[in-house]
Amino acid sequence: MIIRIFLTAVMALVAAALSAQTPVYLDNSADIEDRIEDVMKKLTTEEKIAMIHAQSKFSSPGVKRLGIPEIWMTDGPHGIRPEVFWDDWDQAGWTNDSCVAFPALTCLAATWNEELSYLYGTSIGEEARYRNKTVLLGPGVNIYRTPLNGRNFEYMGEDPFLASEMVVPYIKGVQSNGVAACVKHFALNNNEINRHTSNVIVDDRTLYEIYLPAFKAAVQEGGAWTVMGSYNLYRNQHGCHNEYLLNDILKGEWGFDGVVVSDWGGTHDTDQAIKNGLDLEFGSWTDGLSAGSKNAYDSYYLAAPYLERIRSGKVGTEELDDKVRRVLRLAFRTVMRQDRPMGSMLSDEHYEAARAIGDEGIVLLKNEGSVLPVRPSGDCRILVVGENAVKMMTVGGGSSSLKVQREVSPLKGIEDAFKGQAEVLYARGYIGDPSGEYNGVTTGQNLQDSRTPEELLAEAVSMAKEADYVIFIGGLNKSPHQDCEDSDRSGLGLPYGQDKLVSALAEANGNTIVVNISGNAVAMPWIDEVPAVVQAWYLGSEAGNSIADILSGAANPSGKLPFTFPAALEDCPAHSVGEYPGTRRNDGIWDIEYREGIFVGYRWYEKEKIRPLFAFGHGLSYTEFSYGKASSDSRTLSGDGSLNVSIEVSNTGEMTGKEVVQLYISDLKSSLPRPVKELKGFRKIELEPGETAEVTFTINKDDLSFFDADRHEWVAEPGKFKALIGSSSDDIRSEVTFELK
Ligand code: BGC
Repeated sequence: MIIRIFLTAVMALVAAALSAQTPVYLDNSADIEDRIEDVMKKLTTEEKIAMIHAQSKFSSPGVKRLGIPEIWMTDGPHGIRPEVFWDDWDQAGWTNDSCVAFPALTCLAATWNEELSYLYGTSIGEEARYRNKTVLLGPGVNIYRTPLNGRNFEYMGEDPFLASEMVVPYIKGVQSNGVAACVKHFALNNNEINRHTSNVIVDDRTLYEIYLPAFKAAVQEGGAWTVMGSYNLYRNQHGCHNEYLLNDILKGEWGFDGVVVSDWGGTHDTDQAIKNGLDLEFGSWTDGLSAGSKNAYDSYYLAAPYLERIRSGKVGTEELDDKVRRVLRLAFRTVMRQDRPMGSMLSDEHYEAARAIGDEGIVLLKNEGSVLPVRPSGDCRILVVGENAVKMMTVGGGSSSLKVQREVSPLKGIEDAFKGQAEVLYARGYIGDPSGEYNGVTTGQNLQDSRTPEELLAEAVSMAKEADYVIFIGGLNKSPHQDCEDSDRSGLGLPYGQDKLVSALAEANGNTIVVNISGNAVAMPWIDEVPAVVQAWYLGSEAGNSIADILSGAANPSGKLPFTFPAALEDCPAHSVGEYPGTRRNDGIWDIEYREGIFVGYRWYEKEKIRPLFAFGHGLSYTEFSYGKASSDSRTLSGDGSLNVSIEVSNTGEMTGKEVVQLYISDLKSSLPRPVKELKGFRKIELEPGETAEVTFTINKDDLSFFDADRHEWVAEPGKFKALIGSSSDDIRSEVTFELK
């Protein structure tokens, strides 16, 4: 009897111990919400507090006792960042954390191809999953307000509709791997200078029409599981604990049920962090942003200080429970999903995806006399000039910096593409920034050159005279004050004396082709001197192959600009009527007022009738597309109805090619000022020579609406509208007028 009681007690203890260790929550049978409530009952306050802040540079603890795994974050957004130490930014020195670098998000946006966005998301999500990451810190959708923003290359351009359409498939692709996307930086983080101390002043209409739509689409259509708060302030509160942005809009109006993650070091105040919508704190030091003691995690704003407030009764646990439920929801959607795929990395498919996105994102800006594609004949000599022809671009730029398995340089891509057809020579031309290190990752390249600018220019020019083609490959790079996080550019011009060099090359050789590598618009004072200009972005691992595909004609260019190239910086709205970088207050905060309002990008240039260097949506092809006459199936649109506008597009050239057919809406009469026109649809189609396709756009009330700040709602005013269809914002081919009843 005694023995039996003893045995039963032992068995109960064993069972209890076993059940405590078995991750019972991996059982997917119950609904996630039920499982969350089940866990909530078992958690102690201390465990809950531990779950809502970091335990290392990139991870937060789960609850070991209950089998809830850790959450691991990674940058993002162009490839999977190499591993750093637990509590340090230094490289951990892994030998298996190299990745495939995908093209920068500006390039993805320039493809105007949603299928490629899904491919991008799926591929990078697979790499993240294979590396056992829970959250990918990307994509970014901050609107391009000024070409000086050092971080524009990580975003999707100046138009809220384009960014919205392009961000959704990326998120779906990432999350199909059981990895959460983290849409960043919410919101109004439109410059890097003073990024922690800028207080944005913007009216509600502009906020809702320009700066929020891509985030809203990411959350509501993409179903993003996490969102990252921004560093800057708005209404004098930091983005990571901003009552209006996070509580009222994101979680209130949009019904976001996921996790708000702080940007690294973006949390500044325990009480605001508790109340204003932050769920998961990362990257803080003990005293916030400045460097502090190691292992500061217990001193995080949402750690001991929060626990102390709860214990002393200063605050309740309602907010804590909400945060924990969200973190658990994230865990159940990701690390606790039994059916998660395993992912893969460095696969041929990922390289192919990177190349396909690069091929379709590169924009042919100018091609006079069809100098491109380069078709070598006889003893052809191609001279490649410029630092960016050889410089690795995947290292640098800030948190998006990568450690790649391989990166094909433009020079190598060109050499391979023209092997046996032309002799490819190289001249450096200018010295930009020979360094190649970020956060302990080095390119291994030695780009030092002790020659003077004059010597380099003279060499390039004399070689140019002997060449059949000169391909100048320059632009910006990922060094501070170029395209780089935490700093902005100092001007629109190309650095390192490149303008002078381009002019000299153009004078020496009539077949001088400029390839500009950047994530931003640059000034081109020599534009009339050269016959061809190609906008190549930061293209990642397959950079050289994509550039060579376009130059050689192996791929027909089909990218379109996701932002305007202004002729001069003063032409830009932010630098003309808006503020940049704002006005410094006595407390050290910079008030930056977006006085240009909704007139951002092409909306401004069109209103002011300022001719840009290259317009939004512009991009040429090696073939020609002709547009028929647009027609609609109705002249009126009523209430919740819709109407269809169709147009025939034909490839009248000699090469198969892709065209982005763009739909803009123009409100002919409105009670509020409205842009001349706004992008409301686009379709990328592929046509063989002689082929015609009909493209149909469906227009409804949403496409005609503006945000009425007084009523705090979207309003479509009855009256006449025009549907404008074209090949770019400044190349409208046909239009249809209709009326909203
Ligand atoms: C950046 C984020 C990034 C984070 C983690 C921050 O400095 O603003 O975009 O995800 O660091 O590296």
